[in-house]
Amino acid sequence: MRKNIVAGNWKMNTTVPEGVKLAKEVNDAVAAAGDLKCDVVIGVPFTHLTAVKAVIDINKVGLAAENCADHTSGAYTGEVSAPMVASTGANYVILGHSERRGYYGETYEILKNKVDLALESGLKIIFCCGESLEERENGSFKEVIKAELADSLFHLSAEAFANIVIAYEPIWAIGTGKTATSDQAQEVHAFIRGLVAEKYGEQVANDTTILYGGSCKPANAPELFAKPDIDGGLIGGASLKAESFMGIVTAF
Ligand code: 13P
Repeated sequence: MRKNIVAGNWKMNTTVPEGVKLAKEVNDAVAAAGDLKCDVVIGVPFTHLTAVKAVIDINKVGLAAENCADHTSGAYTGEVSAPMVASTGANYVILGHSERRGYYGETYEILKNKVDLALESGLKIIFCCGESLEERENGSFKEVIKAELADSLFHLSAEAFANIVIAYEPIWAIGTGKTATSDQAQEVHAFIRGLVAEKYGEQVANDTTILYGGSCKPANAPELFAKPDIDGGLIGGASLKAESFMGIVTAF
């Protein structure tokens, strides 16, 4: 049966000392909470990975990079590869975030390469998808989500696909304070699970964790997480304070 996961995505926030402090606070709070009904992951900037890894118990708090390069090594100034991420002890990478797609031109093809390289390095992937406001309003959102998933993930074998967590993040809900209603989110999560079932069968679909992201907070997490196909959250703003992040972690 699939896992529930609450993952933070710090984005481009915190200095290294601030990030280490926040990671320690999350780690301590998770340890103190005892048995949780979800796995906890924090997604941090590349610069923070090694220092954060040193202050967390990786068996209790997973560690994600927010991106990786579409090449393994070589003359790609400024890039950070999947093997480099894995060598820090991180066990996840977030790929396909709408901010990467939108601001840095990440295409389905580039993401497909990143997915392959991350898996080769033994990283699990939190793979994001989601529509813009225009796509929501003109009704094309399901086609958009289908293409985002099919063109970057569905070349994988069922065995490789077991390392994929999907995050549905409607772009119009990210950082806007406008959460998708739990019914809107559930509709898309069920649709995504259906796509996975069509491609890989019911068993794989039932085992796939699908997270919701977009203005998720302690106040709205319980209603979202109560839906049958919402298996947790990918949390931006509310992951930057241990207290609000833990308020979501304990929403299950
Ligand atoms: P917010 O929680 O700040 O809306 O961000 C969501 C997100 O983009 C997580 O990846």
